[in-house]
Amino acid sequence: MSDRNGLTLVLGGTGKTGRRVVERLRARGRPVRVGSTAGDPPFDWEDRATWAPALAGAGAVYVSYFPDLAAPGAPEAVGAFAELAVGRGAGRLVLLSGRGEEEAQRAEQALQAAGADWTIVRSSWFNQNFSESFFLEPVLAGEVALPADGVPEPFIDVEDIADVAVAALTEERHGGQVYEVTGPRLLTFADAVAEIATATGRRIRFAPISIERFAASLADAHVPPDIVALLTYLFTEVLDGRNAYLADGVRRALGRAPRDFRDFVRGTAATGVWD
Ligand SMILES: NC(=O)c1ccc[n+]([C@@H]2O[C@H](COP(=O)([O-])OP(=O)(O)OC[C@H]3O[C@@H](n4cnc5c(N)ncnc54)[C@H](OP(=O)(O)O)[C@@H]3O)[C@@H](O)[C@H]2O)c1
Repeated sequence: MSDRNGLTLVLGGTGKTGRRVVERLRARGRPVRVGSTAGDPPFDWEDRATWAPALAGAGAVYVSYFPDLAAPGAPEAVGAFAELAVGRGAGRLVLLSGRGEEEAQRAEQALQAAGADWTIVRSSWFNQNFSESFFLEPVLAGEVALPADGVPEPFIDVEDIADVAVAALTEERHGGQVYEVTGPRLLTFADAVAEIATATGRRIRFAPISIERFAASLADAHVPPDIVALLTYLFTEVLDGRNAYLADGVRRALGRAPRDFRDFVRGTAATGVWD
């Protein structure tokens, strides 16, 4: 049985979803520990000695893995962490997962096997990759060149993911649920870039490139080889059309529709981050 009023450890608590989960829990007056390599105590997926101190006293954990559940070793790390968490008294685990990734689904199973009350939030690609992550720089440079020609993806707003995660961390009825969460509309990368260009009034071009050119350009930009391998895997395996459908996880969890990409673009353009 989980303690839904006790301390929640939020892994990736300074990241795109985790930061918003922390804000929401704090707004509700819930005690939170931010899981971060710079936290106090620190939490580092690469250093298992940090796991138990970060878990001390936590009744629930939001599990956001880094760098990506598709990375080699992720299922084993998530499984080992979940087992330790349950052993240390965390009765409730909410995992941020990815759609159509074999490794991510293995991580889900590893977490489910640990014996906690679990919820899986299995997500599509984030809108905020364009404003807070790896697509921001290309948007600012005026050209987004990706090996993703014509494949539609139902990009999701991380605000929705945070809402679903917080519901799962604080309400009883989400235990044992796999919420496949997507935005309400399928967009190609060209569509997404065009919407950003229109909202900002800037010339931003989408350029389809080969996977080989993509990998070479990452290497030229000194991106580490393991991250190049991860990104090329995501763009070839995961963006092959298998995820080109909408799912109803946001509505099932929250009883409302997910936010549209257009609203994300309008709100983000107003912040000036794309100027
Ligand atoms: N991006 C997407 O479109 C997408 C879609 C579906 C699922 N996902 C999943 O979302 C998860 C998070 O990915 P993201 O790209 O959105 O990252 P993110 O949450 O925006 O940022 C990374 C977070 O991880 C923390 N971190 C970095 N290195 C760490 C380490 N060694 N140990 C522990 N924490 C560390 C960072 O905090 P500090 O730097 O403060 O330590 C930060 O809070 C991944 O598991 C991915 O599979 C992402």
